[in-house]
Amino acid sequence: MRPAGRLAVITGASSGIGAAVADRLAGEGCPLILVGRDRARLDAVAARTGGRPVTADLSEPAGIDAVCDVADGRAALLVHGAGVGAAGPLADIPAATVGELTAVNLLAPVQLTRALLPTLRAEHGHVVFVASIAAIGVANEAVYSATKAGLRGFADALRVEADIGVTTVLPGAVDTPYFERRGRGYHRRFPRPVTAERVAAALVDAVRHNRAEVFVPRWLAVGARVHGLAPATFTRLSRRLDRGSGG
Ligand SMILES: NC(=O)c1ccc[n+]([C@@H]2O[C@H](COP(=O)([O-])OP(=O)(O)OC[C@H]3O[C@@H](n4cnc5c(N)ncnc54)[C@H](OP(=O)(O)O)[C@@H]3O)[C@@H](O)[C@H]2O)c1
Repeated sequence: MRPAGRLAVITGASSGIGAAVADRLAGEGCPLILVGRDRARLDAVAARTGGRPVTADLSEPAGIDAVCDVADGRAALLVHGAGVGAAGPLADIPAATVGELTAVNLLAPVQLTRALLPTLRAEHGHVVFVASIAAIGVANEAVYSATKAGLRGFADALRVEADIGVTTVLPGAVDTPYFERRGRGYHRRFPRPVTAERVAAALVDAVRHNRAEVFVPRWLAVGARVHGLAPATFTRLSRRLDRGSGG
């Protein structure tokens, strides 16, 4: 799909990767619907991109409805950028956090895609899921990994059954407020964080070329291949990396 000039709905548009995607698509002349909760940050992105801000909590059905009210019948591109993280051993993750991660990272993209599918079909549109390399399973991020693996599976199924473009973006660490918000910084020596702008560029390029999956940086795809071909080796290597990461 050529994104230029098409109406794009971006969740998570008030910060990080979603805001960078908004900037890039605005540069392509796309009218934008910008979804987030923080009105001030959303307004700042709207001011520089000309997008329409929509304040919505995507963990609530009312939030999904609010987005559909403005996007239904018009959206050609749907970018699911909203997401939250949680780090630490599973036993230390509060039950409410499990609910929040599942609601925002997995249920909201599924519900929103389901609701907007007739529109996306009519527009010969495209949907993008911002997952994570954690979809292949990262220690001390079990719940987050589960939501992102679920998202990846959902995208894989949709790509086959629905006649729209479907892309999954799997970034490694990205330099955004994400880590501060989840309450635990990024301490690994490698992979080094990339910029949100780099992820946004890869995402828009993937839409343009109808790519099924894109890893950012690209070499992270090697980890996914080892995971798929030799799960026991993947587990051994992950344990070693985790011990050496200091966090
Ligand atoms: N940063 C990384 O290292 C990294 C790596 C791999 C994947 N990712 C994924 O990339 C996506 C974007 O993350 P980011 O790094 O850009 O993080 P970020 O800067 O913290 O942005 C997160 C966005 O999600 C929105 N959001 C969170 N909870 C929401 C809710 N209940 N309802 C509506 N919007 C909500 C936030 O909106 P408000 O602030 O307005 O509430 C914000 O716009 C996420 O899905 C994340 O899992 C990030």
